[in-house]
Order: sequence, then C-alpha cells, then structure tokens
Amino acid sequence: MFSAKTYKERRRTLKERLGSGLVLLLGNEDSPMNYKANIYPFRQDSSFIYYFGLDLPHLAGVIDIDENKEIIFGDELTMDDIVWTGPQPSIKTLAEKVGITETKAYQKIQKVLHAAQAQRKTIHFLPPYRSHNQLKLARYFDLAYDVVPQHASVSLIKTVIAQRAIKSAEEIEEMEKAVNTTREMHMQAMRMAKAGMKEQTLVGAVMNIAIRHGGQLAYPVIMTINGQTLHNHHHHNTLQSGQLVLGDYGAETSMRYAGDITRTFPVDKTFTTRQKEIYQIVLKAEEESIAALRPGIPYQEIHLKAAEIITDGLKNLGLMKGDTQEAVRAGAHALFFPHGLGHMIGLDVHDMEDLGEDRVGYDEEIKRIDQFGTKYLRLGRKLEEGFVLTVEPGIYFIPELIDQWQSEGKHHSFLNYEKINSYKDFSGIRIEDNVLITAGGYKILGDRIPKTVEEVEALRSEA
Ligand code: GLY
Ligand code: MN
Ligand code: MN
Repeated sequence: MFSAKTYKERRRTLKERLGSGLVLLLGNEDSPMNYKANIYPFRQDSSFIYYFGLDLPHLAGVIDIDENKEIIFGDELTMDDIVWTGPQPSIKTLAEKVGITETKAYQKIQKVLHAAQAQRKTIHFLPPYRSHNQLKLARYFDLAYDVVPQHASVSLIKTVIAQRAIKSAEEIEEMEKAVNTTREMHMQAMRMAKAGMKEQTLVGAVMNIAIRHGGQLAYPVIMTINGQTLHNHHHHNTLQSGQLVLGDYGAETSMRYAGDITRTFPVDKTFTTRQKEIYQIVLKAEEESIAALRPGIPYQEIHLKAAEIITDGLKNLGLMKGDTQEAVRAGAHALFFPHGLGHMIGLDVHDMEDLGEDRVGYDEEIKRIDQFGTKYLRLGRKLEEGFVLTVEPGIYFIPELIDQWQSEGKHHSFLNYEKINSYKDFSGIRIEDNVLITAGGYKILGDRIPKTVEEVEALRSEA
C-alpha cells in the first residue's frame, strides 16, 4: 500500500475536480467458483484501490464532497470468521491506514444514501461490471437491474479516467516492478522451451515466478504454438521443431499494477528464414511505433503508421501489393494485423476498461474507426505525459479468415492470395512492450527483454 498521504491527495483531487455531490465507490466481494465457500482469488476493484487502497472484500467508500466527509463502510470479523480465515485489523485501523477516520457498518450505506437523496444531493457511482455490485446499486437506488449502468455518473467516470490515466512517480516505480517480474517470466520460458515439451509446462513455470514475487497474473496466460488465435488460452499442445511459441502474459504486483508483455520465439534454437522475415517486420513496426511516441501525437496515427510498416514489409515478401497507404485506408492489412496497436495499462491490464473503452481511449477530437481490425484499437486519442500504454503489433496467418476473404475476393488488389495460402501453417508473431510517455518522448518500462532476432536466439541457445 502507498502512504495515507497518497490516498488523501487522490481523494482531494477528485473532490476538487468533481466539485459537488456524494461519491459512492463499491469494493468487490468474494466470488464463488462452484459453491459459495470455494472462491476465486480475490481481486479488488481498481478504482476502489486507487482512492481507498484497501485490498479486502466487502468494503465500500463514500466521499461526501459537499460536507467534506469520507467514510469507509465494512464489518468487523465475527469469531467464526476469525476461526476460518484468521484475524484482521479493525475497520477503523484499516481506514486510518488510508487517512480516513470515519467508519460505519456496511449496512449503513443505505441510510447514508437515503439522507443524501433527501437533501437532493447528486450521488455519483461508477458503472458496475460484477453482478453483486449491480444488484446492490439496483437496490440502493430503486432501479431495475438492467438499467443500473445507464445511471452511472458520466462526470465521475470522466474525472476518474483523467486522474488514473496520469501515472505518478510511485505508480511508475510499481509498474517497473511488474514489468521486471514479467521479464523474468519471459526469459525463463525462452530458456527452458524445447521440442517435446507441453505448452502447459511453460505456463506453470511462468506462473511460479509471478507468485514467487508476491503477486499473481494480470490476466490469463497466452502460451501457444497457435499464436494466430489472438487470445488463445489452450495450453495442451506439444511443442514441435519448426514451430513458434507466442507468449503473452504479465505479472500483477502485490499492489495490483499490471505488466503485459509479448514475445515470440522459435521452438528450435534459431528462427527459420521465413520466420525471421516476418519477425523483422513486426519488430520494425514495434520499434518505429515506440520511437514515434511523445505527448500530443494521436495513438490512432501511430497505429496506422504501424499498419503501413506491416504492409510495406509484406509487399516486400510478395504477400501484399499495391499502394501502401491505399491498402491501409481500405483495411487490407487487417488480414494479417486484425487488432489494435495497444491500450492503456495500470491497475488494470486494459486500464479502466470497466469505465468504457471509448471514454478511456477516444474523445471529441478522435473517434474510433469502424473498420475490421482498426475497430479493435482501444486507444486512439492524443498521448499525454504520464500515460502508460502498450505497443503490440503483430502479424498472423489465420486460415479461416484467409479462406473467407479469398472466397469473397476481398481486397484482391492488395492481397496476393496464392502466396498467402502458402503461409497458412505459419501461426503468428506479436511483440509487446509497456511504455511511459514522458515530457520529451517515451521510456520503455523495465529492463530490456530480449527482442531482436540475435537477442532471442542467444537466449534460446541456453535451452
Ligand atoms: N494480453 C492482452 C493484451 O495484450 O491486450
Ligand atoms: Mn498482451
Ligand atoms: Mn496488451
């Protein structure tokens, strides 16, 4: 946890920017897996962590801006709780750690909200993404379950996004830790992978490192010989000579900050010529995109530039043809690069996505482009100093998509289907780093993770 001062400052900024009303932030509850007592690992709500720091279930916080009051709601443990789950500081002691002196029993939330409603105060809450909190809000505000998200406070959403988007020095330090643990995970996988080994062996090895560092995973591990499936969570294949392994995984630190790194390496100690050719294109797109990062540049522009680099590279290999800019404008590159260049990252791997993708990544000036591929770009707006984002271009050969586009004759003036068909067994390559926007440009977080062909092959030679 950061010091009480950090949380007090964050709440003071929120109060100043929002101006009036009462803010209700619900923490998360424990969530059952297959029966009530058998729970998923607890994950606190990220906005609750940001403003109230407490990483335990069944807590809520109120910030009454009009009366300058802050309250933590929670229940003391019963002796039965202590017997099963152990002792814990009192709610009062916990609240004091984050600079709050007033505490109340959880069930008093309703009373406080009713009093505020009677005084005609505006009550701000964020859109719920877990049903238990959606049900609570439905009850507190006498709303039908389905309409609750529509009643979330737009001004609170905007204020929280503006604040959480700019990372402080102490947050960046924590994010460097997340990336460095993630680096260790990737280097371990690259050092130990061998033909005949199962993907799941590598998954176990990288999870071990995240847990040993006191945290867990920021999202489910992708470790696959079928990298063409973007979010592939199947881990039962056996690695075979000639294949590629795409690993996309990241540690979540004990303070819940995320790392999100992708590396792709050969099962053999060296890349084949065909693999190297595609790898170099993805690497160029990644490195040139990072080099272009600076405050004021729209990320949408960098995404489109990456698409052009990929198109140029694939033209050189005879897989694409025609004018590069026209091909990208038409969306032909999306056969190979069907996702966005990156997203914000912080307490969430896709930071603040619960508050709305468009609200986080777009604004009045820059709107989402509704075209296959580019429509998945989560961050399009102008970058600001203090943003942390991912840069993650990729090239994939998705047989089902190739077949569909070819049968429709789609973008045939830009795509050389005959040649493309000979790559249907290629799988995919993605390279991803986490980058801070600085006043003068950018800083890649963490120590360098092997990325060039030479660096990757040097590490693979240790396998
Ligand atoms: N690991 C999910 C992503 O890269 O967005
Ligand atoms: Mn990733
Ligand atoms: Mn990512």
